[in-house]
Amino acid sequence: MMLEIAKLTARDLPAAMHLSTQAGWNQIEADWARLIDLEPDHCLAGWMGCRIVATATLIRYSSRMGWVGMVLVDTEYRGRGFGGQMMDAVLELADQSNVAVLGLDATDAGRPLYVKRGFVDIAGINRRVIAGEDRTDFTGCDIALREQNWAGLLALDREVLRVDRSAFLKRLAGESVVRVIHGNERLIGFGFRRHGRLADQIGPVVAESVDAGRMLIQSLASRQESEPARNVLLDTFRDSALSEWFESMKFPTIRRLMRMIRGENCAESMSRPNVFAAAGLELG
Ligand SMILES: CC(C)(COP(=O)(O)OP(=O)(O)OC[C@H]1O[C@@H](n2cnc3c(N)ncnc32)[C@H](O)[C@@H]1OP(=O)(O)O)[C@@H](O)C(=O)NCCC(=O)NCCS
Repeated sequence: MMLEIAKLTARDLPAAMHLSTQAGWNQIEADWARLIDLEPDHCLAGWMGCRIVATATLIRYSSRMGWVGMVLVDTEYRGRGFGGQMMDAVLELADQSNVAVLGLDATDAGRPLYVKRGFVDIAGINRRVIAGEDRTDFTGCDIALREQNWAGLLALDREVLRVDRSAFLKRLAGESVVRVIHGNERLIGFGFRRHGRLADQIGPVVAESVDAGRMLIQSLASRQESEPARNVLLDTFRDSALSEWFESMKFPTIRRLMRMIRGENCAESMSRPNVFAAAGLELG
Protein backbone atom coordinates (compact mmCIF):
# COMPACT_ATOMS: atom_id res chain seq x y z
CA MET A 1 0.00 0.00 0.00
CA MET A 2 1.20 3.49 -0.81
CA LEU A 3 0.90 6.63 1.23
CA GLU A 4 -1.79 8.89 -0.23
CA ILE A 5 -1.47 12.56 0.52
CA ALA A 6 -4.58 14.76 0.74
CA LYS A 7 -5.64 18.00 2.38
CA LEU A 8 -6.05 17.85 6.14
CA THR A 9 -9.57 19.02 7.03
CA ALA A 10 -11.58 19.77 10.16
CA ARG A 11 -13.00 16.22 9.96
CA ASP A 12 -9.46 14.93 10.54
CA LEU A 13 -8.90 16.77 13.84
CA PRO A 14 -9.18 13.66 16.05
CA ALA A 15 -6.64 11.78 13.88
CA ALA A 16 -4.29 14.78 13.87
CA MET A 17 -4.61 15.09 17.65
CA HIS A 18 -3.85 11.40 17.99
CA LEU A 19 -0.52 11.89 16.16
CA SER A 20 0.62 14.98 18.10
CA THR A 21 -0.37 13.38 21.41
CA GLN A 22 1.39 10.14 20.52
CA ALA A 23 4.57 12.17 19.94
CA GLY A 24 4.13 13.74 23.41
CA TRP A 25 3.48 17.19 21.95
CA ASN A 26 1.52 19.95 23.68
CA GLN A 27 -0.95 20.94 20.96
CA ILE A 28 -4.70 20.86 21.48
CA GLU A 29 -7.37 20.66 18.78
CA ALA A 30 -7.53 24.46 18.60
CA ASP A 31 -3.89 24.52 17.44
CA TRP A 32 -4.65 22.17 14.56
CA ALA A 33 -7.94 23.92 13.77
CA ARG A 34 -6.17 27.30 13.59
CA LEU A 35 -3.70 26.00 11.00
CA ILE A 36 -6.48 24.38 8.96
CA ASP A 37 -8.65 27.52 9.08
CA LEU A 38 -5.80 29.86 8.12
CA GLU A 39 -4.30 27.53 5.52
CA PRO A 40 -7.02 25.17 4.25
CA ASP A 41 -4.99 24.32 1.13
CA HIS A 42 -1.61 23.92 2.83
CA CYS A 43 -2.21 21.41 5.62
CA LEU A 44 -1.64 17.81 4.60
CA ALA A 45 -2.66 14.37 5.77
CA GLY A 46 -0.94 11.15 4.72
CA TRP A 47 -3.35 8.22 4.47
CA MET A 48 -2.70 4.48 4.56
CA GLY A 49 -6.01 2.92 3.57
CA CYS A 50 -8.63 4.54 5.77
CA ARG A 51 -6.20 5.80 8.41
CA ILE A 52 -4.25 9.04 8.73
CA VAL A 53 -0.68 8.10 9.61
CA ALA A 54 1.21 11.31 8.81
CA THR A 55 0.78 15.10 8.71
CA ALA A 56 2.62 18.26 7.71
CA THR A 57 1.48 21.88 7.66
CA LEU A 58 2.54 25.17 6.08
CA ILE A 59 1.55 28.64 7.24
CA ARG A 60 2.43 31.61 5.03
CA TYR A 61 3.36 34.92 6.67
CA SER A 62 3.97 36.79 3.43
CA SER A 63 4.09 36.06 -0.26
CA ARG A 64 7.71 34.98 0.25
CA MET A 65 7.96 33.54 3.77
CA GLY A 66 6.32 30.46 5.27
CA TRP A 67 6.69 28.08 8.21
CA VAL A 68 6.53 24.28 8.15
CA GLY A 69 5.18 22.40 11.15
CA MET A 70 3.38 19.34 12.46
CA VAL A 71 5.69 16.94 10.59
CA LEU A 72 4.49 13.74 12.21
CA VAL A 73 4.45 10.07 11.32
CA ASP A 74 2.62 7.44 13.39
CA THR A 75 5.15 5.39 15.37
CA GLU A 76 4.01 2.21 13.63
CA TYR A 77 4.83 3.67 10.21
CA ARG A 78 8.16 5.41 10.80
CA GLY A 79 11.31 4.55 8.84
CA ARG A 80 9.41 3.89 5.58
CA GLY A 81 10.06 7.24 3.92
CA PHE A 82 6.68 8.74 4.86
CA GLY A 83 8.24 11.70 6.69
CA GLY A 84 10.25 12.46 3.56
CA GLN A 85 7.17 12.18 1.34
CA MET A 86 5.19 14.56 3.56
CA MET A 87 8.07 17.07 3.49
CA ASP A 88 8.34 16.84 -0.30
CA ALA A 89 4.60 17.44 -0.63
CA VAL A 90 4.77 20.52 1.61
CA LEU A 91 7.78 21.87 -0.29
CA GLU A 92 5.88 21.44 -3.54
CA LEU A 93 2.96 23.45 -2.15
CA ALA A 94 5.38 26.16 -1.04
CA ASP A 95 6.91 26.26 -4.53
CA GLN A 96 3.47 26.47 -6.13
CA SER A 97 2.66 29.55 -4.07
CA ASN A 98 6.13 31.03 -4.70
CA VAL A 99 7.17 30.95 -1.04
CA ALA A 100 10.91 31.48 -1.38
CA VAL A 101 11.91 31.29 2.30
CA LEU A 102 10.80 28.49 4.58
CA GLY A 103 11.53 28.08 8.26
CA LEU A 104 10.95 25.34 10.80
CA ASP A 105 12.02 24.23 14.27
CA ALA A 106 13.55 20.78 14.00
CA THR A 107 13.62 17.98 16.53
CA ASP A 108 16.60 15.63 16.42
CA ALA A 109 14.35 13.07 14.69
CA GLY A 110 13.26 15.53 12.02
CA ARG A 111 16.55 17.30 11.34
CA PRO A 112 18.03 14.77 8.85
CA LEU A 113 14.89 15.09 6.70
CA TYR A 114 15.38 18.83 6.48
CA VAL A 115 19.15 18.85 5.98
CA LYS A 116 18.63 16.57 2.99
CA ARG A 117 16.18 19.09 1.56
CA GLY A 118 18.44 22.11 1.82
CA PHE A 119 17.51 23.54 5.21
CA VAL A 120 20.37 25.05 7.22
CA ASP A 121 20.69 25.64 10.97
CA ILE A 122 20.24 29.26 12.01
CA ALA A 123 19.57 29.25 15.76
CA GLY A 124 19.19 26.94 18.70
CA ILE A 125 15.79 26.94 20.39
CA ASN A 126 15.35 26.03 24.05
CA ARG A 127 11.90 25.03 25.19
CA ARG A 128 11.72 26.14 28.82
CA VAL A 129 9.19 25.36 31.50
CA ILE A 130 7.89 27.50 34.34
CA ALA A 131 6.56 25.23 37.08
CA GLY A 132 2.97 25.86 38.10
CA GLU A 133 3.88 26.30 41.77
CA ASP A 134 6.42 29.02 40.87
CA ARG A 135 3.78 31.11 39.15
CA THR A 136 2.99 33.92 41.55
CA ASP A 137 0.87 37.01 41.18
CA PHE A 138 2.75 39.79 39.40
CA THR A 139 1.59 43.31 38.73
CA GLY A 140 3.87 45.08 36.28
CA CYS A 141 3.14 48.05 34.07
CA ASP A 142 1.45 45.84 31.52
CA ILE A 143 -2.15 46.02 30.39
CA ALA A 144 -4.64 43.83 28.62
CA LEU A 145 -4.94 44.29 24.88
CA ARG A 146 -7.55 46.83 23.75
CA GLU A 147 -8.96 47.29 20.29
CA GLN A 148 -7.01 50.54 19.82
CA ASN A 149 -3.69 48.73 20.51
CA TRP A 150 -3.91 46.54 17.42
CA ALA A 151 -2.31 48.98 14.98
CA GLY A 152 0.72 49.41 17.25
CA LEU A 153 0.98 45.68 17.95
CA LEU A 154 0.93 44.72 14.28
CA ALA A 155 3.37 47.50 13.38
CA LEU A 156 5.87 46.29 16.02
CA ASP A 157 5.50 42.69 14.86
CA ARG A 158 6.08 43.69 11.22
CA GLU A 159 9.08 45.81 12.14
CA VAL A 160 10.73 43.03 14.16
CA LEU A 161 9.81 39.95 12.10
CA ARG A 162 9.69 41.64 8.69
CA VAL A 163 6.69 39.56 7.70
CA ASP A 164 2.96 40.16 8.05
CA ARG A 165 1.47 37.90 10.70
CA SER A 166 -1.70 39.96 11.16
CA ALA A 167 -4.21 37.27 10.16
CA PHE A 168 -2.45 34.77 12.38
CA LEU A 169 -2.08 37.10 15.38
CA LYS A 170 -5.71 38.21 15.20
CA ARG A 171 -6.83 34.59 15.20
CA LEU A 172 -4.46 33.66 18.04
CA ALA A 173 -5.63 36.61 20.15
CA GLY A 174 -9.14 35.11 20.22
CA GLU A 175 -7.65 32.02 21.89
CA SER A 176 -5.11 33.70 24.16
CA VAL A 177 -4.47 36.04 27.04
CA VAL A 178 -2.70 39.04 25.47
CA ARG A 179 -0.63 41.66 27.32
CA VAL A 180 0.89 44.85 25.95
CA ILE A 181 3.41 47.35 27.31
CA HIS A 182 3.59 51.01 26.45
CA GLY A 183 6.46 53.49 26.68
CA ASN A 184 6.18 57.15 25.72
CA GLU A 185 2.57 56.60 24.67
CA ARG A 186 3.69 53.97 22.17
CA LEU A 187 3.26 50.22 22.23
CA ILE A 188 6.74 48.76 22.85
CA GLY A 189 5.93 45.12 23.49
CA PHE A 190 3.27 42.42 23.42
CA GLY A 191 2.90 38.81 24.52
CA PHE A 192 0.38 35.98 24.23
CA ARG A 193 -0.44 32.94 26.40
CA ARG A 194 -2.71 30.10 25.30
CA HIS A 195 -3.98 26.80 26.61
CA GLY A 196 -2.05 23.61 25.83
CA ARG A 197 -2.53 19.89 26.36
CA LEU A 198 0.10 19.36 29.06
CA ALA A 199 1.00 22.94 29.89
CA ASP A 200 -0.03 26.43 28.83
CA GLN A 201 2.21 28.13 26.31
CA ILE A 202 3.60 31.66 26.25
CA GLY A 203 4.33 33.08 22.80
CA PRO A 204 4.85 35.06 20.78
CA VAL A 205 6.54 37.69 22.95
CA VAL A 206 8.00 40.60 20.98
CA ALA A 207 9.42 43.74 22.61
CA GLU A 208 11.69 46.67 21.86
CA SER A 209 13.77 46.16 25.01
CA VAL A 210 14.97 43.29 27.18
CA ASP A 211 13.20 44.81 30.20
CA ALA A 212 9.89 44.94 28.38
CA GLY A 213 10.35 41.35 27.18
CA ARG A 214 11.08 40.16 30.72
CA MET A 215 8.14 42.02 32.18
CA LEU A 216 5.78 40.57 29.61
CA ILE A 217 6.96 37.04 30.39
CA GLN A 218 6.60 37.66 34.14
CA SER A 219 3.12 38.97 33.60
CA LEU A 220 2.05 36.14 31.29
CA ALA A 221 3.52 33.54 33.65
CA SER A 222 1.83 34.99 36.70
CA ARG A 223 -1.38 33.59 38.08
CA GLN A 224 -3.93 34.52 40.63
CA GLU A 225 -4.63 32.13 43.47
CA SER A 226 -7.97 31.16 41.99
CA GLU A 227 -6.33 29.91 38.76
CA PRO A 228 -5.02 26.34 38.40
CA ALA A 229 -1.24 25.98 38.91
CA ARG A 230 -0.51 24.63 35.43
CA ASN A 231 3.02 24.57 34.09
CA VAL A 232 3.80 27.08 31.34
CA LEU A 233 6.12 26.52 28.37
CA LEU A 234 7.99 29.00 26.24
CA ASP A 235 10.24 28.53 23.20
CA THR A 236 13.24 30.83 23.47
CA PHE A 237 16.36 31.45 21.42
CA ARG A 238 19.37 29.77 22.99
CA ASP A 239 21.31 33.04 22.70
CA SER A 240 18.44 35.17 24.03
CA ALA A 241 19.39 38.21 26.10
CA LEU A 242 17.08 36.72 28.74
CA SER A 243 18.88 33.34 28.98
CA GLU A 244 20.67 34.23 32.21
CA TRP A 245 17.47 35.55 33.73
CA PHE A 246 15.64 32.34 32.74
CA GLU A 247 18.36 30.32 34.48
CA SER A 248 18.29 32.53 37.59
CA MET A 249 14.51 32.14 37.73
CA LYS A 250 14.89 28.33 37.41
CA PHE A 251 12.96 28.08 34.15
CA PRO A 252 14.86 25.00 32.93
CA THR A 253 15.24 23.82 29.35
CA ILE A 254 13.21 20.68 28.75
CA ARG A 255 13.75 20.31 24.97
CA ARG A 256 16.37 21.57 22.56
CA LEU A 257 15.49 22.19 18.94
CA MET A 258 17.18 23.70 15.91
CA ARG A 259 15.64 26.54 13.96
CA MET A 260 16.34 25.93 10.27
CA ILE A 261 15.77 27.98 7.13
CA ARG A 262 15.69 27.20 3.44
CA GLY A 263 15.88 29.84 0.73
CA GLU A 264 17.28 33.30 0.24
CA ASN A 265 18.16 35.69 3.07
CA CYS A 266 18.73 32.72 5.35
CA ALA A 267 20.09 34.60 8.33
CA GLU A 268 17.40 37.28 8.16
CA SER A 269 14.34 35.35 9.04
CA MET A 270 12.51 34.93 12.31
CA SER A 271 15.56 34.93 14.52
CA ARG A 272 15.52 38.34 16.07
CA PRO A 273 16.94 39.61 19.36
CA ASN A 274 13.58 41.28 20.01
CA VAL A 275 11.68 37.97 19.94
CA PHE A 276 11.67 36.77 23.56
CA ALA A 277 9.40 33.79 22.92
CA ALA A 278 8.49 32.20 19.60
CA ALA A 279 4.82 31.74 18.70
CA GLY A 280 5.30 27.98 18.84
CA LEU A 281 7.38 25.28 17.22
CA GLU A 282 4.89 24.78 14.39
CA LEU A 283 4.45 28.53 13.97
CA GLY A 284 7.85 30.19 14.11
C1 LIG B 1 10.63 12.82 12.17
C2 LIG B 1 9.62 11.84 11.57
C3 LIG B 1 8.47 12.64 10.99
C4 LIG B 1 10.32 11.06 10.48
O1 LIG B 1 9.37 10.26 9.85
P1 LIG B 1 9.77 8.91 9.08
O2 LIG B 1 8.61 8.53 8.23
O3 LIG B 1 10.28 7.91 10.03
O4 LIG B 1 10.97 9.46 8.17
P2 LIG B 1 11.55 8.77 6.91
O5 LIG B 1 11.22 7.30 6.91
O6 LIG B 1 11.15 9.57 5.71
O7 LIG B 1 13.09 8.91 7.21
C5 LIG B 1 13.76 10.12 7.17
C6 LIG B 1 15.24 9.85 7.17
O8 LIG B 1 15.64 9.33 8.43
C7 LIG B 1 16.22 8.03 8.27
N1 LIG B 1 15.65 7.17 9.30
C8 LIG B 1 14.37 6.85 9.46
N2 LIG B 1 14.22 6.03 10.51
C9 LIG B 1 15.45 5.85 11.02
C10 LIG B 1 15.96 5.11 12.10
N3 LIG B 1 15.18 4.38 12.91
N4 LIG B 1 17.29 5.15 12.33
C11 LIG B 1 18.09 5.88 11.54
N5 LIG B 1 17.67 6.60 10.51
C12 LIG B 1 16.36 6.58 10.24
C13 LIG B 1 15.79 7.53 6.95
O9 LIG B 1 16.78 6.70 6.41
C14 LIG B 1 15.60 8.79 6.16
O10 LIG B 1 16.81 9.19 5.58
P3 LIG B 1 16.99 9.03 4.00
O11 LIG B 1 15.93 9.90 3.39
O12 LIG B 1 18.36 9.53 3.78
O13 LIG B 1 16.77 7.59 3.73
C15 LIG B 1 9.10 10.83 12.64
O14 LIG B 1 10.20 10.21 13.25
C16 LIG B 1 8.26 11.46 13.72
O15 LIG B 1 7.06 11.64 13.56
N6 LIG B 1 8.90 11.80 14.86
C17 LIG B 1 8.23 12.39 16.01
C18 LIG B 1 7.80 13.79 15.70
C19 LIG B 1 8.92 14.66 15.23
O16 LIG B 1 9.97 14.78 15.87
N7 LIG B 1 8.71 15.32 14.07
C20 LIG B 1 9.65 16.22 13.47
C21 LIG B 1 9.33 17.60 13.90
S1 LIG B 1 10.54 18.77 13.35
